[in-house]
Amino acid sequence: MRIGVLCSGGDSPGMNPCIRAIVRASGLYRHEVVGIRHGYQGLLDADFFDGGGRYNVLGIREVSGLTSRGGTILHSSRSADYSKPDGPARAAEILTRHHFDALIVIGGNGSLTGALDLTRQWKGQVIGIPGTIDNDVLGTDATIGFPTAIQTAVEAIDKLRDTAGSHDMMFIVEVMGRHCGDLALRTAVAGGCEIVAVPEIPTDIPKIVEKLKYYRELGKRSMVMVVAEGDDMGGAYNMMNALKEGGSPYEMRVVVLGHVQRGGTPCPGDRLLAAVLGVGAIEAIQHGESGKMVGYINSKLKLSPLEEVIASHRELTDGMMHLLDALST
Ligand code: F6P
Repeated sequence: MRIGVLCSGGDSPGMNPCIRAIVRASGLYRHEVVGIRHGYQGLLDADFFDGGGRYNVLGIREVSGLTSRGGTILHSSRSADYSKPDGPARAAEILTRHHFDALIVIGGNGSLTGALDLTRQWKGQVIGIPGTIDNDVLGTDATIGFPTAIQTAVEAIDKLRDTAGSHDMMFIVEVMGRHCGDLALRTAVAGGCEIVAVPEIPTDIPKIVEKLKYYRELGKRSMVMVVAEGDDMGGAYNMMNALKEGGSPYEMRVVVLGHVQRGGTPCPGDRLLAAVLGVGAIEAIQHGESGKMVGYINSKLKLSPLEEVIASHRELTDGMMHLLDALST
């Protein structure tokens, strides 16, 4: 079989080890893997990774050393072209013309929606792998890149806490997450932060100021708040201004972590997830599956229909908000 693989949307740490897993597992069945560069845009442009082998096939030696490399050797993109009504049909035509039998798409919610669209135009097998730092995809406990992004954010918060303590200050740290606050919430709990603001819960400024005053009375001299970029306040700067106006008793500073969270060496959790899902995708293709995403739930590989995983964004992890409240005093 000839299997294409592409990364789409925001890159995430662990995409490279996942590509490695796909190529190595394909070797077991003597399938050929062709890397498609720049996501769906590259598919429309027939932009294939020069694997050095026949027909651009990625050889098992070419993926050596990818376990610890951040980013994606295939590059990624958000393709406006593919989002046009005829995008999936044009992509299907390219896949047929270049004799592909199957396609693996590594990406988040939008990329998996693109994969589903393709299944309606192309007879080949399509398998999705959840790869995004946002953890906004249903059908898996974690998406590839999420564990590393938390680690990056928590490391930054540990450093900010030092200077917050020295200067009796409050830091408002903005993390990524447009629709899903899971990254913000878990970062806040793991970072020992006091307050979090997420897209799923409307922000109540008077209530937060009341909390801050209470913490001040308790003797807390410094503090860290985490804000998801998709929070209804519109980010950390707006949050700081609103809290100032509302009477926050702390002097405040803002740090926007931004794309730093998407880079770096994948942590072991991401490498393991990438290995399980990469090999799982090849096994799924081997078993004739299509239109499904491979996920990892309760330490077990799970195949879910793409329709189901993109139907909505995942909800905040149960009980996590309570943990933050219980620990923040
Ligand atoms: O989808 C992943 C993500 O990192 C989001 O968390 C963030 O909102 C978005 O990508 C940023 O996208 P871009 O790099 O296109 O600005």
